[in-house]
This record gives sequence, structure tokens and C-alpha cells, in this order.
Amino acid sequence: MKTEKRPILIFKEGVKRKKGKEAKKNNIMAACAISDAVKSTLGPKGMDKMMVDSMGDAVVTNDGAEILKEMDVEHPAAKMIIEVAKSQDEECGDGTTTAVMLTGELLKYAGELLDQGIHPTVICSGFKLAEEKAIEVLNKIALPIKEEDIKILKNIAMTSIASKGASGSKELLADVVVDAVTSIAEKTGGKTVVDLDNIQIQKKQGGSIGETNVIKGVIIDKERVHESMPQHIKKVKIALVNAPLEVKKTKADTRIQIRDPTQLQAFLGKEGGMLKKIVDKVKKSGANVLTCQKGIDNLVERLLAKEGIYAVGRVKKDDMEKLTKATGAEIIAILDDLTAIDLGHAGSVEEKKIGDDKMTFITGCENPKAVSLLIRGGTEHVVDELERGVHDALSVVKGALEDGKMTPGGGAVAIAVSMALRDYASSVGGREQMAIEAFANAIEVVPKTLSENAGLDPVDIMLELRNQHKKRKRYTGVDVLNGKVGDMIKNNVVEPLRVSVQEIQAASEAATMILRIDDVIASKTQERTHPASGPSVGMPGSLDGMPPCMGNM
Ligand SMILES: Nc1ncnc2c1ncn2[C@@H]1O[C@H](COP(=O)(O)OP(=O)(O)O)[C@@H](O)[C@H]1O
Ligand SMILES: [Mg+2]
Repeated sequence: MKTEKRPILIFKEGVKRKKGKEAKKNNIMAACAISDAVKSTLGPKGMDKMMVDSMGDAVVTNDGAEILKEMDVEHPAAKMIIEVAKSQDEECGDGTTTAVMLTGELLKYAGELLDQGIHPTVICSGFKLAEEKAIEVLNKIALPIKEEDIKILKNIAMTSIASKGASGSKELLADVVVDAVTSIAEKTGGKTVVDLDNIQIQKKQGGSIGETNVIKGVIIDKERVHESMPQHIKKVKIALVNAPLEVKKTKADTRIQIRDPTQLQAFLGKEGGMLKKIVDKVKKSGANVLTCQKGIDNLVERLLAKEGIYAVGRVKKDDMEKLTKATGAEIIAILDDLTAIDLGHAGSVEEKKIGDDKMTFITGCENPKAVSLLIRGGTEHVVDELERGVHDALSVVKGALEDGKMTPGGGAVAIAVSMALRDYASSVGGREQMAIEAFANAIEVVPKTLSENAGLDPVDIMLELRNQHKKRKRYTGVDVLNGKVGDMIKNNVVEPLRVSVQEIQAASEAATMILRIDDVIASKTQERTHPASGPSVGMPGSLDGMPPCMGNM
């Protein structure tokens, strides 16, 4: 009998598979493509990108995190790089472009080592050694931030905003951001803790950027519920209620038969009486302002207005929580429990017209644990880009306050780390030495790209930077604004230590993870239709042979 040799099929039909070197090369190319896509935005002289979504809406930004968020990538390795940006953003709020660029660069050099026949495991262990050494160097370079050194905190905020679309107003924004963060910073057990959730950000387009400011209190994006309520109340005693101020409607369908007008009067009177009781309760507590998380009955609104009480209904849970922190009030779930002790205090509650909308400002809170930042700007695009700048700046000021350490920016630490790694590599020797040297080459992407984006010659700048660092001038970086190298500490280009630490850790971990993959198995899924105008990264060749379904792995 003749036996036919048949291949054993372990995957379903349509499954695409790439193995070994081919899989690695493909992943590396995708990572480099993502890195290339954000490179041109790095630093104060970086360019902006216009991201257009499938609906045709455009976002113009210079923010790495935002660009990657808007980018609709398919390749699984590219998606992993975008995760790097996300984790960098969550940890530090800044340094996303750098982390992504560094991952791409590490993989580019790793690719060269793979071509020379070096095993990925060796590259990964070399990268790990380099990462540890780099962090040691960063800690050595870092300078302490003296407590309450407002000027330094402002410089840190400005460095972060300088490379954003909002750079034109960096001084104003830095003032506002530092004011907000220092107001809510708390000392516990000798440590400073900043909870950014205690800073409420309200955006309103219209008006000018100059009207952006910090309010020592809370802004509620709502007007008072009744026109005849006072528009402005001073010496505020505020009640926070999380219960509907209306008579409960029964679920059951009850029918009341009313035979004569007196019965109707009695019925309405009963409901009215209950509602009046609600208002009496509020009045008795001594409150002159009321914010309610639920709805307020029309009659209650009128009665409150009669009593001269300012009330806002359907306030967001978040805002209610901020109000407790700002005014010291307790949120009451059962109105009957409301007493004078539960009330919070503020200097003033006022309804103001901001742009086209009316908002309620609760200000003049003594020692508030929550503050608000009102962002103003001419158009929606401007306000959004300002918000992104403010987000980064808030995070770096938080990082600086919590760690109490800062490093010089402008690529100064990258040069210092790169030079230290080259020395270190020769002491390690063997094949790992080559991986450590690759790490040293990769990290130079920061000063190189900063100079390229500023229209400077990266070769000249790199030579000069190395010269200065050899002379132990370790704070020398690229002074992109003046087109030369300079002392970044003197130039006030400073960053919190945690940003560069996280950049290196995130990039090294992601590169290692991608290098360990040697088999990409993509199952067949339904074809996706692609919007022609959707933002996508061009990855010439890198998706060769990859099915469109790769994104669903
Ligand atoms: N005035 C300046 N001179 C030189 N470099 C600067 C200056 N301001 C900011 N930088 C540098 O720009 C880089 C940050 O650029 P940015 O576009 O914000 O990218 P990231 O998303 O990585 O934060 C940092 O390396 C920072 O040190
Ligand atoms: Mg930045």
C-alpha cells in the first residue's frame, strides 16, 4: 500500500505566520516607522502634525501622546510601541516622544546586531545592563530641588510647555500650573504628595489665552436653577446634597379620583407641603448655597429662590467631590440628615458668563484641597492644545515636587549616559559589550533629533557636546533657541528626574519585549475597511505580506 506524505496542519486556513528573523525584521521596521513618525515633533523647534480622522475632523498637535492616540495603526509591534507612549504618559505625563523614539532607535541598532549574528538573548541582557547603568548615571547627574523653589518649578513647567503648541504663552501657563500644583500639594510623613485629580480643568473657548487662570475653588459648568435667585452670594455656607429634591413619584400606576375642587386643592397641597419641607430643611441648616447631584423640582427651585438661596442641580459627581475638598462640606445622601455641621465655607459663589455659557464660580475657599484651572483661548483647537500643554506641565511639576530632583534637558543627560555607557561597555566585554554600545548609540537620538529639528547640523553639535562633556561640563546640551550648545541648568532648561528615568526604562523594556518575539501568528479575521482619509502610518515594506487582520492579534 502506498502511503502519501501529507503536511500536518495545526492552524486554520488563512492563518499567516512569520517566523524567526523575518518576524523580528518586520517588527523592527514597524517600530522604526512609528518612531520616525513622531521624531519631527521633538523639542521646542519641532513641527506640528495635523491628524485627520475618518470623519474629516482635524487635530493639530505637537504632542507625541496625542499623535499616537490618533494614529490608527494596524501592525501589532507598532501597537506595542504606542503602549510605550501610553505608559510614559501615565507615569510622568511627559517624555512620550522621547520614549517612543528611543524604543525605535534601540530596535534599529538591535537589528544591526542581529545581522551580525548576535543572539537576541545576548542583546536583551546587554540592554538590561545598559539600562541599569544609565539610571545610575541619571541619579548622579540629578540636582536637588530646594523645597518651595517656585522659580525652578516654573522653569520645569516652561521646559515642558516650550515644546508644545502652547509655547507662546509658556510663562503665563507655567505660573498658573505651579500655583495650582503647590496649592494642592500635601505633606504626609515628610513626603510631598500631589494628587492631580484635585485640580479641576475647565476649558472654555472664546476670550484670550491671557484669561487662563487658577481659581482657589471649584467651577461648575452650570448656571443657577432659577433666574430670581441671587446671582452673587458672599460668606457662603454651602450644602452638598446627593438626593433628588422632589417628591418621589410612585412606580405603580395609581389613579386618584377627585370628585370636587377641594379634594384637588388638598392633593396639590400635600405635595406642595412635602416640597416646602425640603426647602425648610435647607433653610434651617443655615445654607445660602446648595448644590445637588440630582434633580430639583420646579416648586423647590422657586421656594429656594424666595429664600434667597443660590442652587445648582444635576452637578457632576466629580465636581461634588472637588467641592468637598475645596469647601470642607460633607455630601449628604438623605436630606433629613442635613445640619449646620455639614456645610462648607467659601468666600463667594457667583454666576458668571464665560464665552457663551454661564458657569458657577465657588471661590475664596480657605486652604482649599482642590483648585480649578480655567483655560481660555480663541478657538477650540487652541484651547485643546493649551490643555495638552497644561496636562504635561502639571505632571512635570508634580514629579519635580514629589521627587525633589531635576536633570538638565536639551539632550544633556543623553550625552552623559551615552559616554558613560561606552566606558562601561569595555569593562563588560564579550558580546554584551556590543549591545551596551548599541544602547549608547541609540540614546544619542535625543540631542541629534533636537538639533535636526532646530535646523542645526547634528554632526557638529554632537562633536561639540562630546567635547564639553569630556571637560566634565555635564550639563551641556543643545540650546535649540540660540542654535548652539550650552549649559542647560544655566539656560533654565530643566526636567524632573523621573521623566528621563521612565523614558529609558520604558524604551528598554519595550525593545526587549519586541526582540524576544520570534513567531508572529496572525489568525484570519474579517477584513476591515479602511477609511481613505484616516490617519495611518506609512510603513513602506514593513507590512509586506502581513494581512490586514494583523491588528487583531
Ligand atoms: N529650550 C530648550 N532647549 C533645548 N531643549 C529643550 C528646550 N526645551 C525643551 N527641550 C527639550 O525638548 C525635549 C522634549 O520635547 P517634546 O516635544 O516635549 O517631547 P517629549 O514628548 O519627549 O516630552 C526634551 O528633551 C527637552 O529637554
Ligand atoms: Mg514634552
